[in-house]
Amino acid sequence: MKITQAILPVAGLGTRFLPWTKAVPKELLPLGNRPIIAHIVDECIEAGIRDICFVISHGKEAILQYFQDDPRLEAALKKRGKTDALRRLPHYKNVRFHVVYQEEQLGDGHAILQAMGWITSPHVAVLFGDDLFVGAASGIQQLLAASEKVKDRECALVAVENIPREDTRHYGVIDPDGAVDRRLKKVKGLVEKPDPAKAPSTLGIVGRYIIPRSIFAALPRVRAGKDGEIRLIDALIAQLKTVPIYALECAGTRIDTGTPEGYAKAVKLLGGIGVS
Ligand code: UTP
Repeated sequence: MKITQAILPVAGLGTRFLPWTKAVPKELLPLGNRPIIAHIVDECIEAGIRDICFVISHGKEAILQYFQDDPRLEAALKKRGKTDALRRLPHYKNVRFHVVYQEEQLGDGHAILQAMGWITSPHVAVLFGDDLFVGAASGIQQLLAASEKVKDRECALVAVENIPREDTRHYGVIDPDGAVDRRLKKVKGLVEKPDPAKAPSTLGIVGRYIIPRSIFAALPRVRAGKDGEIRLIDALIAQLKTVPIYALECAGTRIDTGTPEGYAKAVKLLGGIGVS
């Protein structure tokens, strides 16, 4: 499967990271020599995806600013002879960034829906702004490789992690059907945040997806959950009869950088500010 477009929903409230997220988008926290979101954009670029749409909320414009050239800053640095500083400025040549707004935080599915008019390809990658994969090929690269093993053309692929049973309440959990290989499984059902006793497996969905365009047609019909949020997983459930889903247990360590504990773990693995 060839994927050229990716949606990065980064409009969330970031409640688990308050009070910092009052002022600073958590996606801009530093990890080594780059903010978290740059790790995710670089994951797209390494996978050959150069058409990127951020779904942001008002006040999170600094996310786009990081990726744009700043001629005034460059001129000021040049004038002062600060060549080292100039060299540190990132340049994202041949990458097209696009921004859409989510006016109200009504869930990840609702966020992705805002990008619908921008999609021009049959499949699109979705990368959540706080999940990072460390120590192996990137999550999206692993999903792309898995897509080559799947015969259905009109299908969705989701990354999953084998989670402790007591944590199923925090994840969408798959009900696996046949196995394509040790890590790749066909999915016969999905349950959002099941009780541990009722969970069909311990394979929880994490923040990397490849979805066909048809999922966007289902999203507006998805009913909000008890928490008022519209989720991508519910659109996948609604389309399961016509759009087969495959789940890949990704190799490597997945870190949820959306909590202070997860972020601290990521800093340990990837370095603090200025350390690449
Ligand atoms: P999370 O569930 O981690 O939500 O969203 P959050 O708002 O970022 O953080 P908490 O739970 O309040 O602490 C998963 C991804 O979906 C995006 C988030 O920005 C994150 O990348 N998202 C979530 C949206 O873009 N809009 C939403 O309404 C909800």
